Amino acid sequence: MAKYRTRLGRRTFLSGLAATATSCAIANQPRQLNDNVQALRDEKRDFAVVGDAPLRDRAAAKGLLYGAATGSQILSSDSAFAESFAKECAILVPENELKWSVLRPSPDRFDFSQADALLSFARSHKMLFRGHTLVWGQDFGDFGPKWLRETVNSKNAEQVLINHVKTVVEHYAGQMHSWDVVNEVFDPRHGRADGLANTSWLKFLGINYIDLAFRTAAQADPKALRVLNFTEYDLGENEGQREARKVGVLKLLERLKAQGTPVQALGIQGHLEGITTHFNPRRLKAFLRDVASLGLKIMITELDVIDQKLPLDVDVRDRIVAGVYEDYLSLVLEEPAVTTVITWGLSDRYTWHSRFNSRDDKAPVRPLPLDEGRKRKLAWNAIARAFDRSPNRKL
Ligand code: G3I
Repeated sequence: MAKYRTRLGRRTFLSGLAATATSCAIANQPRQLNDNVQALRDEKRDFAVVGDAPLRDRAAAKGLLYGAATGSQILSSDSAFAESFAKECAILVPENELKWSVLRPSPDRFDFSQADALLSFARSHKMLFRGHTLVWGQDFGDFGPKWLRETVNSKNAEQVLINHVKTVVEHYAGQMHSWDVVNEVFDPRHGRADGLANTSWLKFLGINYIDLAFRTAAQADPKALRVLNFTEYDLGENEGQREARKVGVLKLLERLKAQGTPVQALGIQGHLEGITTHFNPRRLKAFLRDVASLGLKIMITELDVIDQKLPLDVDVRDRIVAGVYEDYLSLVLEEPAVTTVITWGLSDRYTWHSRFNSRDDKAPVRPLPLDEGRKRKLAWNAIARAFDRSPNRKL
């Protein structure tokens, strides 16, 4: 953390962020990446890949794990997609089936049927299974069940949280690779000095809700890797806001480690925006090092590259998206603590961006490795190249 602060300069980074946001973004432009975007427009960049081995095998050859998020309805209704999914992925993440909105139809009921179907698909295709997510502030919002926001308060919140985490983690005990125990804890836009998202869990239980969730999960299944999933999110944020998240999450991780909270890994979502390729390579690298130096593993948990504002031309768009994938992954895979890469979906046919970040020209979005017809795109090549060139974790 000290190292990271030093790199940010003497100015206290958390203060005056809004005022300095514009100049900060200009002064710290990820020049190399913007240059790359220009190069992609020139169509000179080479995305050649040797052989046709699937991503799961290329990752495994380097001691890495690759997989994607998907849904039970998608797999049961689209056998061709399911076949591609099994071919490319070594780990499956339910995109929504383990959220309160699906698991908890009422305060006293748990419905595991959809998530169990995904687990069964994963097992029958020799994939690992990953849990997303146990505790998430958004569950109190429009994404969560109505009963949660209507019935939970500071008196019963602790009991509700413990009961949920214990029941769900025990249900999958011994079968879960990892759990996003707490998801999206940061939002500097909420104005707190520590940058924490001002969620209902925080409001009802204070900052200790994070520790409580991790301890409960550890007790219910000591073997599943316990992850704090962190919003690394390009959408609508400037560099100052993104850096504030990183400062905040490092502080929190230091605090959790110091007090003995059983957190084992940081999940970095990685919803990247194609047009501006916001990430700053030097800072991202320093951030990963600082997280690793706390003894934590790192997982890239929700990677995709948003093409909402890219040019309409599919060739140009695909090249820019592929360039961002390769630049980002090449950089993060240099950090030995990074063990896993998960894309938030596999094919453009099924992506949250088509609903949440659609294009003004109504053209279908293309943020994922396979196109709508399950054909490998340049984004697939880019990921394959980054895996092929990654340092080997087994050495
Ligand atoms: O299942 C119902 C379906 O029955 C109904 O017909 C349909 C009508 O809109 O809604 C369906 O539920 C939607 C669900 O996605 C499945 O498609 C919900 O309304 C919708 O809110 C939900 O959105 C998900 C969102 O999280 C909120 O939970 C997205 O698919 C999912 O990609 C997104 O994932 C989040 C991660 O959990 C956390 N990080 C950010 C990421 C992207 O926002």
